[in-house]
Amino acid sequence: MTAPQKSAGTVASVMTEDRKFPPPAEFSARARIGSLEDYQRLYDAAAADPEGFWGERAAALPWTKPYDRVLDWNPPEVQWFPGGRLNASAACLDRHVAAGRGGKTALVWVGEPTGERREYTYAQLHAEVCRVAAGLKALGIKSGEVVSIYMPMTPELVIAMLACARIGAVHSVIFGGFSSEAIADRNQDAGAVAVITADGGWRRGTQLPLKKNVDVAVARSPSVKHVVVLKRTGQPVEMVAGRDVWWHDLIEGMPSDMPPEPMDSEAPLFILYTSGSTGKPKGIKHTTAGYILWAQTTAEWVFDLRDDDLFWCTADCGWITGHSYITYGPLAAGASLLIYEGAPNAPHEGRFWEIIEEEKPTIFYTAPTAIRSFMKWGMQHIEGRDLSSLRLLGTVGEGINPEAWMWYHEVIGGKRCPIVDTWWQTETGGIMMSPLPGCTPTKPGSCTLPLPGVVPEIVDAAGHPVARGDGGWLVLTKPWPGMLRGIWGDDQRCRETYWSRVPGKYLAGDNARQDSDGYFWIMGRIDDVLNVAGHRLSTIEIESALVSHPSVAEAAAVGRPHDVKGEAVAVFVTLHKSAEASDALKEALRKHVRQQIGALAVPDDIHFAAILPKTRSGKIMRRLLRDVAAGRETVGDTTTLEDYTVLATLRGNDE
Ligand code: WT7
Repeated sequence: MTAPQKSAGTVASVMTEDRKFPPPAEFSARARIGSLEDYQRLYDAAAADPEGFWGERAAALPWTKPYDRVLDWNPPEVQWFPGGRLNASAACLDRHVAAGRGGKTALVWVGEPTGERREYTYAQLHAEVCRVAAGLKALGIKSGEVVSIYMPMTPELVIAMLACARIGAVHSVIFGGFSSEAIADRNQDAGAVAVITADGGWRRGTQLPLKKNVDVAVARSPSVKHVVVLKRTGQPVEMVAGRDVWWHDLIEGMPSDMPPEPMDSEAPLFILYTSGSTGKPKGIKHTTAGYILWAQTTAEWVFDLRDDDLFWCTADCGWITGHSYITYGPLAAGASLLIYEGAPNAPHEGRFWEIIEEEKPTIFYTAPTAIRSFMKWGMQHIEGRDLSSLRLLGTVGEGINPEAWMWYHEVIGGKRCPIVDTWWQTETGGIMMSPLPGCTPTKPGSCTLPLPGVVPEIVDAAGHPVARGDGGWLVLTKPWPGMLRGIWGDDQRCRETYWSRVPGKYLAGDNARQDSDGYFWIMGRIDDVLNVAGHRLSTIEIESALVSHPSVAEAAAVGRPHDVKGEAVAVFVTLHKSAEASDALKEALRKHVRQQIGALAVPDDIHFAAILPKTRSGKIMRRLLRDVAAGRETVGDTTTLEDYTVLATLRGNDE
């Protein structure tokens, strides 16, 4: 293979994937956006007159005071709908109840312990949110103050978020798998005045000590005055008098109807902490009107939500996916949601398929890391399960290897369900690029085309657009309603991270390329690029080549220093249960990569590993693997690592 020479900032693409799947005709016939012409018309309308386009869509929001203008844009300062007032919880609940849809199912919840199940209608969810909101207000929590939420994936987590929104408090959800240090750091950074938690939560059959973690954290969080505790598992906890209150006591006697606080369009709705490549987590700030509009509109477009759908997003509300596609987007759209408390392999590796058979969701949205686990766990958990309720599948969080895409399409989707591979970020607030299931032909591994209102560009390090087909930095050139409004307490870091390397444009931090159809292919994080003999290679392409080998379940590719080539390719590979690690398999994998991609990408080092180091949201931490591959100690931040023992094990496995 002769890889073309690239200018600085560009990445060589060596992957060819030319399978293409048109949307099924029956799906298109009933879809909200049923043809590419309709998509193009919307896209052009949003590009030609963004203010008219978004103004029209914002008309349905429950404004209590009309806005003055649609958009003020002075990069990176942005305001959507300045002067307007509304409340996010009213957009998700009150307007549906007022429109006579109070009896519709809002939420179906399945607990991890088998047999636990609850259902809420919109009217019931509204009443619960009002009670908790009134309780929080009675504690003295005020509009604009920050409340941390550290809870298991129960309906009360969604209720707590909406209750904060109702009184204008800014929520900061902290994933229930994080440690007490992580809670303390986030409490301090945000100046949180209260923490809402639970005694414990279920995870793979064990009880997480949530309240205990909060106690340790709050000892180091001087701003926290109140701790609200939901009784979930019943495990013993210590209650601190004057500080701690049980959830059930908080809502005792509280009204089931309580008017929402009218909030400015640009009032902060929530902070969500996300890890930077190094250093302390960043509190990404989202505001009210633009965020709600973006979450709702993208949910309707991408998931083609209909009145009779039951939408299962498997994310936890500790991540942005749970904010935008559990709590805010689908509820603002008036959809019915399914949520599940626990792990996909608890109590057995077929749990998700059992839930689908029983609850009959129509839309299923999950992460590629989960899909690769399902493949690894094997067909015996899926065969015989009735998955016929599904009509649409989605993925989010990282690139999906074409092999995993095909498996998802064939095994879970029964070849009849379109797949929406959705590219977005905590910072973007909602989906930015994705197929629209009724109109966009899909290609395995591509997030296809930008949504209306999204204007991406691929540029080199000087900020110039690269040639079609070349890889480079993905930037967004126009403001969109769901965009971040800053990093909490650190405007300078926000400017430096997102707005200064390519002045005036939003730097997503991902590499991408566009193919001859204009489809986008995300190639991995900018910081993860390999540079072999002067050619920059993308991690996802090498990994996808490996995953397409029948023995490989998961793979991570990184560069390590090499005297001659600059960097050598090192890969970490986990195998399917049936496969066995051997030198012969290493040779076979090298040969396979050579066939799939070419000599340049053939791994110099192959490490077999039982598991790969991942963040708690399932992303492979290639930064740590680079250290292992180079035989270096890890110096950077490892607090987001899911399982600390993985690193030690990997080092032990070194050749
Ligand atoms: C980063 C954002 C988006 C919500 C959950 C993760 C990667 C996300 C895709 C996709 C390829 C993807 C990117 C992005 N990513 N979706 N469909 N294809 N890469 O949010 O933790 O803020 O991570 O996840 O690298 O920048 P996040």
